[in-house]
Amino acid sequence: MVQIKSSKYLDFLSQFGVGGAHPGGLSLTMEVLKNESIDETSHVLDVGCGTGQTAAYLTSRYDAKVTGIDIHPIMVEKAKKRMKKDQLPVEILQSSIENVPLQDAQFDLVLSESVLSFANASVALKEIYRLLKSGGRFIAIEMTINRPLDKTEETDLQQFYEFQSLLTEKDWIHLFEQTGFQHIHIHPQPSQQQDNAVLEDYHFSESIEPETFEVMEQHFEKVLKYQGILDYRIFTCTKG
Ligand SMILES: C[S@@+](CC[C@H](N)C(=O)[O-])C[C@H]1O[C@@H](n2cnc3c(N)ncnc32)[C@H](O)[C@@H]1O
Repeated sequence: MVQIKSSKYLDFLSQFGVGGAHPGGLSLTMEVLKNESIDETSHVLDVGCGTGQTAAYLTSRYDAKVTGIDIHPIMVEKAKKRMKKDQLPVEILQSSIENVPLQDAQFDLVLSESVLSFANASVALKEIYRLLKSGGRFIAIEMTINRPLDKTEETDLQQFYEFQSLLTEKDWIHLFEQTGFQHIHIHPQPSQQQDNAVLEDYHFSESIEPETFEVMEQHFEKVLKYQGILDYRIFTCTKG
């Protein structure tokens, strides 16, 4: 039984079926993936795959063998629906990244795009490390804070987003090192926000509760309020 901690924000994302729900969206993912060697022999895991936009791209563009996992039942349902509709052979599982029911050392590449802050990042990184083959690559496009938060800010963000890991760039690097990752690299953020309009991807639920629209507004308010404080980094590293 997968234990899911309720988060109004994740419920909003799932009901709207937002694809590419990470900074930079699919266009950033596409740029970052260009630096990796991926082909039809690669086995790739997308943790916290949401509605499966990146997982679908990985199999259509590279013909890779792709697995996606997500904790949220609506995300899992929408990702499965996408793969069925597009006839893509992507396996989608409902699972927490903290305890994945898959064997050790089977993936060449693991991706996490705006996921680990919602989990216990230390436990999740150990799982990712376990699942990677030796020499396997990990790409994390993850949220960072640019300075330590005061108690009020921390409570405000944790209550709304249900974040479990609010980390600075330095904290992330420390955790990667502690887990055993090597060749830790931070990629430059694109200087200009890419135009994601053509890649916009929504899979709305048939009925959306009015409260969900309020959650969306509250999210945009928080984005403005924490501008310059909440940020993201593109990390890549290797299992030694
Ligand atoms: C901001 S969304 C990003 C979704 C997707 N990676 C994307 O970029 O569109 C965060 C995702 O992480 C999933 N998630 C949160 N905690 C998780 C956990 N412990 N294990 C697996 N997935 C989790 C959520 O259900 C949600 O789909």
